[in-house]
Amino acid sequence: MKVLLEALAPGSEDLALARAIDSERLPAHIAIIMDGNGRWAQQRNLPRVAGHKEGVPAVRTTVETCAQLGIGALTLYAFSVENWKRPRLEVDTLWRLLRVYLRSELALMMRHDICFNAIGRLEELPEYVRIELGDVTRRTSANRGLRLNLAINYGGRAELVDAVKNLIQDEVQVTEQSISARLYTAGQPDPDLLIRTSGEMRISNFLLWQIAYAELYVTETLWPDFTRAELLRAILDYQKRDRRYGGLGGSETGFPDRSLEPIEIPIAR
Ligand code: IPE
Ligand code: IPE
Ligand code: MG
Repeated sequence: MKVLLEALAPGSEDLALARAIDSERLPAHIAIIMDGNGRWAQQRNLPRVAGHKEGVPAVRTTVETCAQLGIGALTLYAFSVENWKRPRLEVDTLWRLLRVYLRSELALMMRHDICFNAIGRLEELPEYVRIELGDVTRRTSANRGLRLNLAINYGGRAELVDAVKNLIQDEVQVTEQSISARLYTAGQPDPDLLIRTSGEMRISNFLLWQIAYAELYVTETLWPDFTRAELLRAILDYQKRDRRYGGLGGSETGFPDRSLEPIEIPIAR
């Protein structure tokens, strides 16, 4: 948090927003569905891939800001198992962009002590992408700051299928803990905050198990237009939520509630 406050320009909106954040109640894990690249490009009469290219700086700012804030984990949805349905040219361009991104961002990851991790069915990716992913994962593996999970060829259902297969193979008892321990995010806290850009009110097969009690934040902003200010606003919004986990939330520790006294309930015969 201190790192972010020191990095922001005096008098800027970003600094005012960052100052309003309670550093004691930061989300431990933020997950983001980075959506709307295609629409961003269409609005400008550009090919869809131009939108993906323009999404890269937004990724950079988001990753850097989370690291500077002291967030524990950030999971970014970059490519779903369903995204193979898109035109070949678009998919190939995404892989090439990913390679460029990994090469250009390594320095930033090292500077901010970020530990990179790719999650998804990576074995189905082109070999040159796997090599690059392996390289950045290895080089950042000793870093102890932000854990950056990039979800690529990721599907929440596929992840659960793999976890259950693993349980059966190991002849392990099925419990919530044993399933969690076999997900790609094993050992990490579940996301507290799930952000989706471009206004779609759906989950699109992302982290189905892990988001059981995540707070949702959907913004109309298209991913390439997502700024640091918007990320900070999402965190501020999250800090206003009353997380009840099925209980009574804020009122649980309050004064004795007369409404909890037994009342007569007439039973119709
Ligand atoms: C999200 O943007 C990026 C990926 C899914 C790879 P989209 O490409 O889905 O953009 P829209 O939803 O078509 O605008
Ligand atoms: C979700 O976006 C996947 C990623 C952001 C990588 P999609 O654009 O694929 O989702 P739908 O098709 O609108 O549900
Ligand atoms: Mg989309």
